[in-house]
Amino acid sequence: MGRIFNANRIASMTTSIFATMSKMAFDYNATNLGQGFPDFDGPTWIMEAAFDAMKSGKNQYAPSPGIMSLRKAVKDYHKKYYDLDWNENEIVVTAGATEALYSTIQAFIEQGDEVVIFEPFYDSYLADIILAGGQPICVTLHKPNFDFVKEELEAAISKKTKMIILNTPHNPTGKLFSKEELEFIANLAIKNDLLVVSDEVYEFLTFDGATHIPIATIEGMKKRTITISSTGKTFGMTGWKIGYAIANELLSTAIQKVHQWTTFAVNTPGQHAMAHAISMLESYLPEFRKTYKEKRDIIYKELKKTNFKPHLPLGSYFIMVDLPDGKFNDDVDAATNLVREHGVATIPPSVFYLKSDEGKTMLRLCFAKQNETIIEGIAKMGKI
Ligand SMILES: Cc1ncc(COP(=O)(O)O)c(C=O)c1O
Repeated sequence: MGRIFNANRIASMTTSIFATMSKMAFDYNATNLGQGFPDFDGPTWIMEAAFDAMKSGKNQYAPSPGIMSLRKAVKDYHKKYYDLDWNENEIVVTAGATEALYSTIQAFIEQGDEVVIFEPFYDSYLADIILAGGQPICVTLHKPNFDFVKEELEAAISKKTKMIILNTPHNPTGKLFSKEELEFIANLAIKNDLLVVSDEVYEFLTFDGATHIPIATIEGMKKRTITISSTGKTFGMTGWKIGYAIANELLSTAIQKVHQWTTFAVNTPGQHAMAHAISMLESYLPEFRKTYKEKRDIIYKELKKTNFKPHLPLGSYFIMVDLPDGKFNDDVDAATNLVREHGVATIPPSVFYLKSDEGKTMLRLCFAKQNETIIEGIAKMGKI
């Protein structure tokens, strides 16, 4: 076939680093600290709630924006934990945060619009911006604390900027944006009349008393913020792909328009189960946080014994480590060597940067793993 059928907009898209590293992990039978999801199951009582929903006939299409009880549960927890008042029409249930991001960016970004993202970034932001014809503009979160330079953020904003994408708690650095940083971003957004997309999928995964602050709580921001989260992260069931976008009705109506022609609706029994799960957040969260804090502490302590220098994360289930001096050419070399020669898979983070070379000096590890898996993987890294 001589004709090339691929649309130009997918030309720059390659296989994601996660698929590449997972294949290598499988090929070399490696301990997998690369994949960004738990290697243990979510709560049985949520599965039972889904089965109950199936048995009681909740098996046909859900309303496109999501079932009312799930949207109400989301509304209620935003009031309870953040003192934010939404109504059900301001919430769109999507196929994971991934679809919420896609639908949001499709709804607002068009050819030539600039979107400011912080690097290292979650890689779907880049793909979504490119698919919409937008232009990503990066601002680096610099080592060692992964702070941004205020002047760099100011300089990234131009007449063409329409949106800033924020992710807190942050994948892959584990950073929580502080109130002061959020206020700075908020001021710029207001001054330049920008939308802010706030990806908060790790909102309940915070450690050492650090608090997650949704940027929608900063004065003047509620009406220009699209907050995105995912039950997959909160309840450790990423395979269910149930997420949501929350924004004032003008914005959520636009997101809903894309959603109705993308997935139309998200699986019905899963939504019923997650409505129940969210209503149980208060009793669920202490154990959830304790489990992940223990894993965070184990990985940090074990890494301290190796030549890889860990950056202590305050949120998410990722940790960044500096490569040992003089051992590797860069992160890809290190990740390839670790999986092939030492049987441990990690993620080389340089793919999450467009501007800075800092990613080449680190690796990303995921600690949403059984404690023995973490200890085994880090012991293998300790051989270097
Ligand atoms: C920062 C961030 N946003 C969004 C997602 C996607 O979430 P979901 O699985 O609900 O689509 C992930 C998943 O790893 C993530 O880390």
